[in-house]
Amino acid sequence: MTPISETNEPVVAKRSLTAPLKGAVALVTGGNRGIGRAIALRLAVLGAAVGICGRDQATLDETLSALQKIQTPAHAESADVSQAAEVLRLVANTEAALGGISILVNNAGVGLFGPMQEKSEADWDRVLDTNLKSVFLVSRAVAPGMIKRGAGDIINISSLAGHNAFAGGAIYCASKWGLQGLTACLAEDLRGHGIRVSSVCPGSVATEFGGNLQKKAHALQADDIAHAVEMLVTQAPNSFISEIQMRPLRKA
Ligand SMILES: NC(=O)c1ccc[n+]([C@@H]2O[C@H](COP(=O)([O-])OP(=O)(O)OC[C@H]3O[C@@H](n4cnc5c(N)ncnc54)[C@H](OP(=O)(O)O)[C@@H]3O)[C@@H](O)[C@H]2O)c1
Repeated sequence: MTPISETNEPVVAKRSLTAPLKGAVALVTGGNRGIGRAIALRLAVLGAAVGICGRDQATLDETLSALQKIQTPAHAESADVSQAAEVLRLVANTEAALGGISILVNNAGVGLFGPMQEKSEADWDRVLDTNLKSVFLVSRAVAPGMIKRGAGDIINISSLAGHNAFAGGAIYCASKWGLQGLTACLAEDLRGHGIRVSSVCPGSVATEFGGNLQKKAHALQADDIAHAVEMLVTQAPNSFISEIQMRPLRKA
């Protein structure tokens, strides 16, 4: 359907229908496997140049080769996003290889579940540093370039656990509730600069997350999350969808 403006004139689509992200540069943290890999491949198919990071070299190599088959400029780098120095190196190398980052997907994350009284301080630090501090570090490194260019999308892969409470979820839920607050405040800091900061909050997704491949037939698939990211980065230039909550259509 041809979009219609308020004045009832058809809006002239400036974006290519086949490659709407041509010219965009995306960085997907944890883009080597799971949900991040699906997002990276989806953004590449839409025409973006794509950088990915993770710590496991074998999956970085495998996903880089899948990106190259799409014939998009791509960059893969081993980096721990909870470490400030590694984040600065990652962003500098990605921008040197591909150009200024216009889409940042903060996806890297770890799951840890079980009674709070059985968890250690190291458990708390690992989950909070990976799921929350990393988003501050990577966004802080990428935002100045976006501000300079007056545009950008920062998408944080949060969780329904960022809204809900359940037994055994204390540390993970704390990280994702914190991420919801961080996302909302970054959005207010940056929207005046033409930068959208939003969160995607899925329920269970069939990945190896938490060391436990979830095989439930009705679970969301990694590609479903990639589709939500596609919706965010292809929304109309003047609109700002701040959050997407996702559940599988059928419960059983
Ligand atoms: N699966 C679910 O049910 C579900 C539901 C809601 C939200 N989520 C969220 O979705 C995101 C992706 O999860 P997933 O299901 O795809 O899990 P996954 O298959 O376990 O993948 C996690 C990704 O994060 C990367 N990562 C972890 N720690 C990192 C670090 N310190 N530095 C850099 N990369 C790191 C991993 O790469 P390396 O191990 O190579 O570092 C991997 O690419 C997470 O934020 C998670 O909280 C998942």
